[in-house]
Amino acid sequence: MPMTQTLPPKLAELPRVPLAHLPTPLELLANLSRHIGAGRLLVKRDDLTGLAMGGNKIRQLEFYLGDALAHKADTLLITGAVQSNFVRSAIAAGNRFGMRSHVQLEQRVDRNDHLYASSGNVFLDRLLGATIHHYSEGEDEAGADRQLESIAAGLSEQGRTPYVIHLAPGHAPLGALGYVLAAEELLDQVDPSAPDIDEVVVGSGSGHTHAGLLFGLRWLGCTVPVTGVCVRRRADEQRERILARTQEIGRLLEVPNPVAPNDIVLTDENLAPGYGRLNDATREAIGLAAQHEALLLDPVYTGKVMATALARAAETDGSILFVHTGGTPALFAYQQELAE
Ligand SMILES: Cc1ncc(COP(=O)(O)O)c(C=O)c1O
Repeated sequence: MPMTQTLPPKLAELPRVPLAHLPTPLELLANLSRHIGAGRLLVKRDDLTGLAMGGNKIRQLEFYLGDALAHKADTLLITGAVQSNFVRSAIAAGNRFGMRSHVQLEQRVDRNDHLYASSGNVFLDRLLGATIHHYSEGEDEAGADRQLESIAAGLSEQGRTPYVIHLAPGHAPLGALGYVLAAEELLDQVDPSAPDIDEVVVGSGSGHTHAGLLFGLRWLGCTVPVTGVCVRRRADEQRERILARTQEIGRLLEVPNPVAPNDIVLTDENLAPGYGRLNDATREAIGLAAQHEALLLDPVYTGKVMATALARAAETDGSILFVHTGGTPALFAYQQELAE
C-alpha cells in the first residue's frame, strides 16, 4: 500500500482537539483466519480509541469539538437512534471540555422493551449526565435536526451557547476528517515487507467513516478497494451519499476530490431485516469473533461488517482488513436476541 503524497495542508489548519488514543492497533486475526481456512483477516482496532468505551466516533468528534470550542459553545446537541454510539461518545467528549449535552433519541428501531430503552448506550448517556429528549420518528433526518435546532433556540434564550451536530446531509462533514487522518495512520502501520491488504471492509452509516477513509487512502495514492457495508439504507441510496460526502470533504480541504465514482463499493447483503435488527450471519459473526479472538462486536454495525468480511475472506486467499468501529455497549441491549 504505497503512500505517494502527504495529506492536504488545510487539514492541519482546521480546529481539532485531542480525544482519541492513537494510533489504534492493527492486528492479525490468526485464529479466525485459521477457522475460515482461506484468506487472512486483519483488524484495525478503532474500538480502542479510548474515550468512554471508544469507537469510530471519537476520531470524528475531535473535529466537531474543535469547531464547537472555536465557536465558544458551552452546550452540545446531537440526535441519534436510542442505542446510538455517536450520542454516547458526544456526551463523553463534551464532558471532557466542561460542556453540557442535550441529546435526542429517535425511535428508529421498533423496540420499546426495558433492555433496549435503558441499558447499553442509554445507561451510559444517563451516567454521563446528558439531558435526554425523544423524537418519535426514526427515518426523518431533517425533521430530527429541526427539532434539535428548536431545542438549541430555547437554550440560546436561556443564555447558553449551543452547538448542534447535525444528522442530515448538507452540513460540513467535519467527522469524516477524522478518517482522512486515519488513512494516513493505517498506511504508516502497514509493513511494506508483509503481504499487502487486498480489501478494506468498513461500516457505512452516516458515511463519514467510509467517505473519509476512502478519500484519505486515494489522496495518499493507495488504490486498495474499500467496501462499505450498508447498515442503514440500501446500497444505491448510500452510493449517492458517499459520493456527496467525498465531494464535500474536497471542498472543506480545498483540494480536488480524488475519489472516482467507481471507487465507491457498497454491499447491502447484511442490511436485512433493517437498521438495528439482527440476521443469522450477523449473529454467527458476533459469536465467532468472540469465541475465536475474544473480539467483542456490536449487533448494529460491526457484527454486520464482520459477517461481510468473513464471507469475503472465505472467497479469497488474499488479506481482508476489517475496521472495528466499536459499538460494544449496544451488546447489552441485544442480549436476548444474541442468546437465541
Ligand atoms: C459502532 C459504529 N460503527 C460504524 C458506524 C458507522 O459510521 P458512520 O456513521 O461514520 O458511517 C457507527 C455509526 O454510528 C457506529 O456507531
